[in-house]
Amino acid sequence: MSIAAEHPAYDYRTVRQFAIMSVVWGIVGMGLGVLIAAQLVWPDLLASQFSHFGRLRPLHTNAVIFAFGGCALFATSYYVVQRTCQTPLAFPALVRFTFWGWQLVILAAAITLPLGFTSSHEYAELEWPIDILIAAVWISYLTVFLGTIAKRKTPHIYVANWFFAAFILVIAVLHIVNSAQIPVSLFKSYYVYSGAMDAMVQWWYGHNAVGFFLTAGFLGMMYYFVPKQAGRPVYSYRLSIVHFWALIATYMWAGAHHLHYSALPDWAQSVGMVMSIILLAPSWGGMINGVMTLSGAWHKLRTDPILRFLVVSLSFYGMSTFEGPMMSIKTVNALSHNTDWTIGHVHSGALGWVAMVSIGSLYHLIPKVLGIAQMYSTRLINLHFWMATIGTVLYIAAMWVNGIMQGLMWRAVNADGTLTYSFIDSVEASYPGWIVRVIGGAIFFSGMLVMMYNVYQTVQEAKRQDAIRDTSLPEAATA
Ligand code: HEM
Ligand code: HEM
Repeated sequence: MSIAAEHPAYDYRTVRQFAIMSVVWGIVGMGLGVLIAAQLVWPDLLASQFSHFGRLRPLHTNAVIFAFGGCALFATSYYVVQRTCQTPLAFPALVRFTFWGWQLVILAAAITLPLGFTSSHEYAELEWPIDILIAAVWISYLTVFLGTIAKRKTPHIYVANWFFAAFILVIAVLHIVNSAQIPVSLFKSYYVYSGAMDAMVQWWYGHNAVGFFLTAGFLGMMYYFVPKQAGRPVYSYRLSIVHFWALIATYMWAGAHHLHYSALPDWAQSVGMVMSIILLAPSWGGMINGVMTLSGAWHKLRTDPILRFLVVSLSFYGMSTFEGPMMSIKTVNALSHNTDWTIGHVHSGALGWVAMVSIGSLYHLIPKVLGIAQMYSTRLINLHFWMATIGTVLYIAAMWVNGIMQGLMWRAVNADGTLTYSFIDSVEASYPGWIVRVIGGAIFFSGMLVMMYNVYQTVQEAKRQDAIRDTSLPEAATA
């Protein structure tokens, strides 16, 4: 019997919609990533007033983080909370609103950002009317999620739900506090914070967006889908609880590492640095807990590309959460800040961790919510796995080389104290790395197209099976 038929009460419709849209927005967002990467090599490429690098860069970040990542988080959290609480989602009307409202937010971003409407705060660029819609969707999301937990049939709350709940709650708080603005027209507003205060609030938001949107939510995925796919219980449930509390207690204080050597008081920068170094411990605790869940199931990696996606994502998570604390040390940041090293760090987290854990989880979830046994093609998942891994490695290796080279070139001085290189020298030297990034990005992006094809065929297969069931039912009834 199919899974959908086994649990007819679960609300899988919205899960399916979010899952499919995650793949669609992944293609759009990563396609834009490849385009802006190419524009850094060929600046005139498709460069109109609306489509030059400056306008498309925030469109890329919004599309990949909030549209691709956001839809993946909605899909997986709605799926996991129902199954682990053994009850359908609470407030079905609000569930529908979160889907359509979120798509409207994405559409509004896709229209307003190329037109140049922006609050100019990174990862919070959208103007105030869209901010209000985001707040409405997010509070509905929180209500649905907590409402479902409240009516659970199970005695305890599985740890994945703790991570999802923290992610949803904290993002609501961050978004509302960081969006405090005074509108002056329909598409322009000014922040109530100014100067160093504005920078601090922005990076308290920005870093916790990394910590809760790009980390805690995806850890929720990890705690459900890794054990499920490996067919093993979580390595240490106790460690997962320590991981949870340590992570959320530490992340909040680390944002100042984005503002080293700025007008922010020196002590605040140091707090950011120290807290970032401490953050290594809970991050690695979680990573180890995920990887060790495979104890006794390592052999499955040979044949299961979905498990490979999940495990490799954990390795990248470990790598980027080692690199981040190193980069937060002031003397290291003096070299890395504003260079491609940061971009490499971002994408080892974004491609290696966020995208790979999402892709693995979606491959697990999509057949289940379609009510069929498995994806259309395991070979295509395997192909996708290699494309994603090779694409990520090319991207980040090129950015590390570029970043360290840029940092060293900018600080090189001659014996008489003048600069050894002009800025343009460092731009010229960066071209080979930028070309490798276009290639790596294009490979990763093409992997997403392979995924889309596989998902499309899986949906067709589900429809075929549904049709067979429909035609065989009356016969069975008359037999
Ligand atoms: C095919 C895949 C991708 C390509 C080719 C790509 C390319 C790029 C490029 C060229 C930039 C601008 C770099 C610069 O200003 O020097 C960028 C920025 C960024 N991308 Fe991507 N990207 C991809 C996927 C992703 C994904 C999946 C995510 C998140 C889940 C992501 C998150 C970001 C973020 C947060 C930034 C801003 C970084 C910063 O300001 O430091 N990207 N990307
Ligand atoms: C222990 C965990 C981490 C720490 C301590 C950390 C630390 C840092 C530091 C020091 C920077 C450079 C700031 C600068 O010079 O401007 C940075 C940038 C960034 N990190 Fe991490 N990182 C961590 C994990 C991650 C993960 C898992 C992701 C997930 C994708 C991520 C995403 C980013 C992004 C998007 C930026 C660029 C922000 C911007 O300037 O636009 N980080 N991080």
